[in-house]
Amino acid sequence: MSERVFINDVGPRDGLQNQPRILQPAQRLGLIESLLDAGLKHIEAGAFVSPKAVPAMAGAAELFAALPDRSDVTFTALIPNMKGYELATAAGARSVCMVLYASEGMAQANVRMSRAEADAAGAAIVKRARQEGVRVTSTVSVAFECPFDGPADPGLVADMVARFADLGSDEVCVADTIGAANPVQVRRLMGALVDAHGAERLSCHFHDTRAMGVANVFAAVEAGIRKFDASIGRLGGCPFAPGASGNVATEDVNMMLSQAGFDTGIDARKLQMAARVAEELTGNAPGGRARAWLERHLEIAA
Ligand code: COA
Ligand code: ZN
Repeated sequence: MSERVFINDVGPRDGLQNQPRILQPAQRLGLIESLLDAGLKHIEAGAFVSPKAVPAMAGAAELFAALPDRSDVTFTALIPNMKGYELATAAGARSVCMVLYASEGMAQANVRMSRAEADAAGAAIVKRARQEGVRVTSTVSVAFECPFDGPADPGLVADMVARFADLGSDEVCVADTIGAANPVQVRRLMGALVDAHGAERLSCHFHDTRAMGVANVFAAVEAGIRKFDASIGRLGGCPFAPGASGNVATEDVNMMLSQAGFDTGIDARKLQMAARVAEELTGNAPGGRARAWLERHLEIAA
């Protein structure tokens, strides 16, 4: 049997948060349903953030309340602070993702906190989530480069990963928020982190700004990582990180991993249909880099 790799589709959150066309919760639910239909078992469904800061994520409570009852699927809520944790869990979220920062500039731009304040909030959230039986991912954002402060310090990233793994995060995600990493850096950093902590609780999040998304996923696979964030239709881009473009496309990652012999549990044809849904809803989903080939190969009419 081939080895399993897990893809967490962050399209409904990272993908939609910066779209000019703001989607209603029911429309976002439609996108989530198309991902479920394609076999995704991990979906970042929304964010509990200030609707003033991110209008596209408004109505997250309504969305979470409407999610289908699927015990085999992990629906995650992104949160920036304890208030986000409280709102998310009150809305029924059983999995949260708290964002940490490997730079001062990004912490300030994103949540108007210092790096240390975000770390402290993250530590309190991990503690509380463990007490309340909520699954918690701690994401180290701008782990390779910050749009404000430049290249990240790999030593700082390693310290943050160690701290949040030791605190008991169910998962620690290393995020290339603006898509500035290259595969050599990824293999070096993720290799060291896997040596220190094992791969079980580690994951990676790449953006495809410079067409290195899939290469970076492969570099992390070679380092032992088996869980990745990706976004349907290559949707995405952080409103607070200038220059960031879409996440690496779920379709591209699924194609590459499948061809490399891994089991993703995803139906490629239905995934391509989900990318169509993303495009119809947003008018702004470029699709994977392999889109034309995939549509021809899967005999999907233009
Ligand atoms: N969800 C919803 N509302 C929140 C919130 C959350 N997680 N955290 C704070 N708020 C509310 C406060 O209650 C307050 O409401 P009020 O104006 O009605 O009193 C308002 O937001 C401002 O709160 P304050 O503590 O002064 O925060 P701020 O104005 O400095 O904004 C954040 C901080 C974190 C709320 C805001 O920057 C944010 O939501 N950022 C998210 C950024 C993001 O999603 N980035 C992309 C993903 S990484
Ligand atoms: Zn991202």
